[in-house]
Amino acid sequence: MSKIYSSKTLDELDEIRVKLFGKKGLITAEFSKIKDLKADEKKEFAQKLNEKKETLNSAILEKKHELENLKLQERMKKEAIDVTLFDEGLNIGALHPITITMDKIIEYFLSQNFSIENGPLIEDDFHNFEALNLPKYHPARDMQDTFYTSDNNLLRTHTSPVQIRTMQNEKPPIRMIAPGAVFRRDFDLTHTPMFHQIEGLVVEKGNKVNFANLKYILENFLRYMFGDVKVRFRPSFFPFTEPSAEVDISCIFCKGHGCRVCSNTGWLEVLGSGVVDPNVFKFVGYEDVSGYAFGLGVERFAMLLHGVPDLRSLFEGDIRLLEQFK
Ligand code: PHE
Repeated sequence: MSKIYSSKTLDELDEIRVKLFGKKGLITAEFSKIKDLKADEKKEFAQKLNEKKETLNSAILEKKHELENLKLQERMKKEAIDVTLFDEGLNIGALHPITITMDKIIEYFLSQNFSIENGPLIEDDFHNFEALNLPKYHPARDMQDTFYTSDNNLLRTHTSPVQIRTMQNEKPPIRMIAPGAVFRRDFDLTHTPMFHQIEGLVVEKGNKVNFANLKYILENFLRYMFGDVKVRFRPSFFPFTEPSAEVDISCIFCKGHGCRVCSNTGWLEVLGSGVVDPNVFKFVGYEDVSGYAFGLGVERFAMLLHGVPDLRSLFEGDIRLLEQFK
């Protein structure tokens, strides 16, 4: 009896059961003695033996339940999953450097009350060129190596068509940026056939908006992005702005002294901009308004901010490069 109570495992308990009730078990042997007893002894012996059998049996059953319960609890303890536990070895992905840069730029313009507008990637000739004061056969179309999908449709070469679409759908005042992918037939160290731009457009009624407003917002924006840099507005040409300026910052690598990245000029070109050409307003039916616009290449910003020497590496999906942006 005490062996039953002290058994520690189900196997041990079963061994005891076999020893008692198995073919050669102690109790089994007792039962086989009955037939040799005298008739008057038989009854009492059998009764006592049966009682003994009952007691042992129920003790074994009870112990069995107890051990089964214990086993279950141990298993639950061992196999428990703590869902709040964090596996430090877990490999979490990171945002792509283009996304990081894009988000930072967008964040700035949202803080300056710009809205975000979108347009289609496949554009028509009117929105990508014509309405931006770039008539057919105008030589300035050569500036952009276009992928045509049909005579009249193309992969947008810049985000400027979103300016046109927004002005067509809304009334001034407008204060918008348009981030997104653009496409050009170009492929080398600093060009990929697909890249990203962020366009900006501000339009107000009357002649409230001028070059000074453009200069103010872009200078602040570039210092937000690059820290303490000099900003230079260099006269340039875009068909849709007049006057136009390309914007340079003092080289962030050599502080303007001249190095390989800035081709020894001390300056890095980062933006195109200008005062909206009156012809553009005519195409969208705006009268008595003034505005400025700018456009920038996100990849260029990402390369400068993160010191990426080859633009193409940003699109190769090499995990060793991407992991550095965690
Ligand atoms: N769309 C021009 C480009 O892709 C950039 C630009 C935008 C210039 C707006 C001036 C104003 O090169």
